[in-house]
Amino acid sequence: MLPLLSLSYALFLVANAAPHHTPPSSPSPPTAPRIVGGKRELHPSVFMWQAVFLHSGSIICGGTLISHNKLLTAAHCNIRNTTASAKSVVRIGGANLHDGKSYPIVATFRHNNFSRGARNEPVNDLMVVEFHNTDRTLARWAPRLNRDPSLPAPNQTITASGYGRLGETAQLPGHLRSVHVPLVPPDQCIRSYGTAVNPASHICAGSDMFDSCKGDSGGPLWTRAPSNESDVMLFGVVSFGYGCATKGTPGVYTRVSAYVAWIDKLVSRADSPFRHPNTINNWPLIWAVCAGVAALAVVACAVSFMFRARAFKHSQHSEQF
Ligand SMILES: *[C@@H]1O[C@H](CO)[C@@H](O)[C@H](O)[C@H]1NC(C)=O
Ligand SMILES: *[C@@H]1O[C@H](CO)[C@@H](O)[C@H](O)[C@H]1NC(C)=O
Ligand SMILES: *[C@@H]1O[C@H](CO)[C@@H](O)[C@H](O)[C@H]1NC(C)=O
Ligand SMILES: *[C@@H]1O[C@H](CO)[C@@H](O)[C@H](O)[C@H]1NC(C)=O
Repeated sequence: MLPLLSLSYALFLVANAAPHHTPPSSPSPPTAPRIVGGKRELHPSVFMWQAVFLHSGSIICGGTLISHNKLLTAAHCNIRNTTASAKSVVRIGGANLHDGKSYPIVATFRHNNFSRGARNEPVNDLMVVEFHNTDRTLARWAPRLNRDPSLPAPNQTITASGYGRLGETAQLPGHLRSVHVPLVPPDQCIRSYGTAVNPASHICAGSDMFDSCKGDSGGPLWTRAPSNESDVMLFGVVSFGYGCATKGTPGVYTRVSAYVAWIDKLVSRADSPFRHPNTINNWPLIWAVCAGVAALAVVACAVSFMFRARAFKHSQHSEQF
């Protein structure tokens, strides 16, 4: 009886050695993802670095690979690490949503000065997300970061991409799409958004035909060198917009060149410790419990053997009397 009790207690301890998973009450931000207009993106030089954050299988936001284990996304995406929520993962490297590889999220670094403007517009809307990956060759797919504040040039062809919906009520396409978005001059963008837009830290792009939308948040604004399809440069991160593909209000992107020092510092940061949420890591405790159970079993056997032996002696005695 005693060993059995100890065993069930040991199982209880083992079950509790795994970390608790408390999913967030609701995934944030609300998802209405869509690339408006555009085409299916089938080129590996794009889909190999495009990331999508999922919570319980639903699209939360987009992101961009910036090293073998770090991604750039928007701070307002409020990405959670996999320890905080086992249902949050990032998927990278698939022309189709389900072809890529899923990775656990081990740490998140929101820009210190992230805040909200008068109409809830995000300010300093950047976040670096670290995921668990030991394959360093993944870094070869990461686009270069634009470091030149004078770019993109007004006549440059620039692209946004994501796995989101094609329209507010359309089905999720399930594959990566990209769209050329016309650049909008800063003065025109300020006329649309007022002080919420700062040309030093924002890029405006999009029209009433071609745009990114809420769920594409955190996703990339990029260019590809005409002479070299593999030469991709990241210019912006989808941040906000009033409506999507709405006349007079283009999409607003966080300007990467304004934050390269902050990004570089996080890219070179030492890797965070990884503890897989579905694995039992507490082996010393488990061994201690098993050893305890074994010791108790031995003691219980010995005790019961002694009692039996004594009972046998007694019965022998009683037979004599
Ligand atoms: C993961 O998230 C939890 C809960 O939000 C937090 O306590 C923990 O510090 C985070 N871990 C890392 C490595 O960021
Ligand atoms: C945030 O703002 C403060 C005050 O302007 C500045 O000193 C600091 O460098 C900023 N932080 C980052 C990460 O840029
Ligand atoms: C953009 O304009 C610059 C200078 O006006 C010119 O040198 C460049 O070739 C143009 N680029 C494109 C893609 O039209
Ligand atoms: C094309 O660009 C990639 C990525 O920047 C680079 O590694 C490669 O050497 C380039 N190829 C040519 C032919 O310039």
